Amino acid sequence: MSSAGLDDFVERVTERTDIYSVVSRYVPLTQRSGRYWGRCPFHNEKTASFSVSADKGLFYCFGCGAGGNAFKFLSLIENITYFEAVKLQAQRLGIELPAQRTSPEQERRRREEKTLQKINELAQEFYHECLIKTARGEVGRKYLSGRGITAETIETFKLGYAPDEWDNLFNKMIRQNFSAQQLEAVGLIVKRKNSSGYYDRFRQRVMIPITDIFGHVAGFGGRILGKEDDSSPKYLNTPETVLFNKRNLLFGLDKSNRAISTSGKAIVVEGYMDAISLFSAGIKNVVATLGTAFTPEHAKLILRYAKKIIFCYDSDEAGQRATLRALPIVQAAGAEVFVINVPDGKDPDEFIRKHGKEAFDGLLKNATTLVDYRMNYVLANTEHVTTSGKLRALQEILPVVVKITDEVARTEYRKKIAAALSLDEMAVLNAWKKISARTESDNKPIVISRTKLSDNKDRVFRTACEDIFRVMWHDNNTISYVATVLPQEVFSPIHQEIINWFKTCVEQERRPDELSAATELSDAANAELARILMTGAEVSRDTEANIFGDSIRILQGVVLNKKYHELLAQAEKFDSNDEAAYVKIVEESLKIKRKMDNLKVGTRD
Ligand code: UTP
Ligand code: MN
Repeated sequence: MSSAGLDDFVERVTERTDIYSVVSRYVPLTQRSGRYWGRCPFHNEKTASFSVSADKGLFYCFGCGAGGNAFKFLSLIENITYFEAVKLQAQRLGIELPAQRTSPEQERRRREEKTLQKINELAQEFYHECLIKTARGEVGRKYLSGRGITAETIETFKLGYAPDEWDNLFNKMIRQNFSAQQLEAVGLIVKRKNSSGYYDRFRQRVMIPITDIFGHVAGFGGRILGKEDDSSPKYLNTPETVLFNKRNLLFGLDKSNRAISTSGKAIVVEGYMDAISLFSAGIKNVVATLGTAFTPEHAKLILRYAKKIIFCYDSDEAGQRATLRALPIVQAAGAEVFVINVPDGKDPDEFIRKHGKEAFDGLLKNATTLVDYRMNYVLANTEHVTTSGKLRALQEILPVVVKITDEVARTEYRKKIAAALSLDEMAVLNAWKKISARTESDNKPIVISRTKLSDNKDRVFRTACEDIFRVMWHDNNTISYVATVLPQEVFSPIHQEIINWFKTCVEQERRPDELSAATELSDAANAELARILMTGAEVSRDTEANIFGDSIRILQGVVLNKKYHELLAQAEKFDSNDEAAYVKIVEESLKIKRKMDNLKVGTRD
């Protein structure tokens, strides 16, 4: 599609869109003083502080600050991107999408995928109806209520039941003109081994639909009602299909992504029952892997919404091993990693059912950092009384710890390790040096925070500044760029001094170097610059470019956020008679919000 054609399309959809009808499809609205009001769908509230202005085509919530035009509303409520919202609205208005240039083969594949998706959706409905409406579903209902799963949760996750019959679903789907090949392609039926024909894969199981991030059903997990045995595993999952790829899917993400981005952290659990259980207890920022190892793709998916990833795997041996395996992956992806150990009770589901949400919040607060987790694990699992035992433990712990870039944290950990193993600090330092020389080649920095899980905005800000300074140092072309995209005031006075000096160097057509820094900068600025240059980890140019882009966006976000809050403070003080001025402020703040949202979109992928 040409970009002119696209613009034209967006314009046509915009022209015919009326925000009132878009919103009122989801939120009951009543008219009051020239606007429509309702209860905000984006946060919990009892009084209506969500308003829609039909003339301006905007909505705004005075409670949570969500706001924008009709497409923004759709994208938030449907969990889709802005452009997908435009397309959805076009569909509802019957406006055709301008023709895309795709090959017939691509077109065929796209249609086939749509059909497969449709099949999964119908299957979900079939299982769900069977669970909630039929007598055959009674056993499923009993099973779920026995696990404390409410009707509301059944509705939210569209849980279902596959009856104890060989071809119920198969026949139903064939009657609706889907082919056996198609049903087999989504994994719902299996070819018979010794005769012709097919049978339903899922029978006599509670069905858990597994959705992709748009909420489309990609596959299913089916739980056996009783005890598993060799011929029937506890969980039966859809095999790998065009739609179902475990490496790329995280159970629950379509429902939890808002909570993940507002809280800034995602909790990763091993089982989808754990995710369902935490979610329905009110811990909404949770996702589950699908019985496979945590992959870089999973990390990337989560990082679209939050930087902090908290692993909360089962407390058994397998769970701990899985945690240890996952950690380097997440760490390499640039996330901040924390680990929760579930005491008393094997998994998060059992824990929260036994002890409640508050107790789980307590675990969250005490989540350990990656390094502590590794240390505790090794200390608990190796003999470290004898000298050789101590050295072995050291070999296990150090490879993780030596990657910490923060000097203060490094020293702290050296002390901690020495104390834990009753070793001399010098001995730890020597082993440390040897290991860090060995691991230099794959030196991925560890992001570790000395601050609490809840408050490290400052640290993110500081790191972003430092990353930018390192890039400016050896790529002088970026110096004027930084000055154009960020206002000077975002930097601390010392950093401003360094930037100004950088600029002077560029103007005088010379490279900033250590020697001139020492003579031309104040002592404080010189020391700060040195500290920044020294603490950076070696990364490839590509990674560096990514980090640079992200850091710029982080700082831009800080600037916008500050402005936004200033405007909100102004709005609060407003005289209610001066509607026009008030609307102006709201519009201004919406503009800023939009810019902030765009920054977030920019950091995706
Ligand atoms: P668990 O056995 O820890 O699941 O497996 P759970 O959530 O505690 O199950 P309940 O509470 O007994 O119902 C964790 C994940 O591993 C995969 C599933 O994805 C499950 O959610 N799994 C497990 C399978 O795929 N097949 C199995 O037979 C068992
Ligand atoms: Mn369990």
